[in-house]
Amino acid sequence: MEYILSPSLLACDFSTIGEELKQLEDAGVEWLHLDVMDGQFVDNISFGLPVISSIRRKTNLFFDVHLMITEPIRFVERFAQAGADLISFHVEATSRVQETIDSIHSLGLKAGVVCSPDTDVNEILKYADQVELLLIMSVQPGFGAQTYLDHCTEKIRQARQYLTEHALTAHLEVDGGINASNLKTILEAGADVIVAGNAAFYGGNIVANVEALKAAGMSA
Ligand code: DX5
Ligand code: ZN
Repeated sequence: MEYILSPSLLACDFSTIGEELKQLEDAGVEWLHLDVMDGQFVDNISFGLPVISSIRRKTNLFFDVHLMITEPIRFVERFAQAGADLISFHVEATSRVQETIDSIHSLGLKAGVVCSPDTDVNEILKYADQVELLLIMSVQPGFGAQTYLDHCTEKIRQARQYLTEHALTAHLEVDGGINASNLKTILEAGADVIVAGNAAFYGGNIVANVEALKAAGMSA
């Protein structure tokens, strides 16, 4: 089954980030998932604007920026300047969802809305006709290398059904705990963009890991 792989840089070796990016490109990857955490919306701090601006100068990968920050609208313009192509944000992190979508679009970027595992999927589906991407988290946001939460598969099915019924073209991205073993189930449920952190970077064998994920997708 055709899908877009968006490897999450959170799982890379940051001491050799240039080399990691080159390996991703050699592996034929087109998207890069960038997890931004503020230590407030989630219990972790990752990286932010200076890192994204630096790597923007090194690669033409599509920057899929996943903001896990409180009141994301405050930072939308700065992430646009840093080189984001798409900005997605959590509906749990703000009461200004519509305004934030509009702000992202006004900067010429694609917009995505995200729901955490315990949030009703309808909370993002109500924006499905206005965004370019819906993101269903399949682990609690904040950390890589967690286990996929099985109850999220039903949310993916619901979201795919909604998009089909309403003839909407938004991407349906799933993020957290995905590997070559469970990928098929997630694709068959209706995802078309897959985030992989640990599964893409483990052992530093990025090209081989990406190959394995592509092969697993083919059987779906
Ligand atoms: C978690 C992040 C994910 C995570 C994915 O908050 O949003 O993107 O890095 O990593 P894996 O694939 O290792 O679960
Ligand atoms: Zn993410």
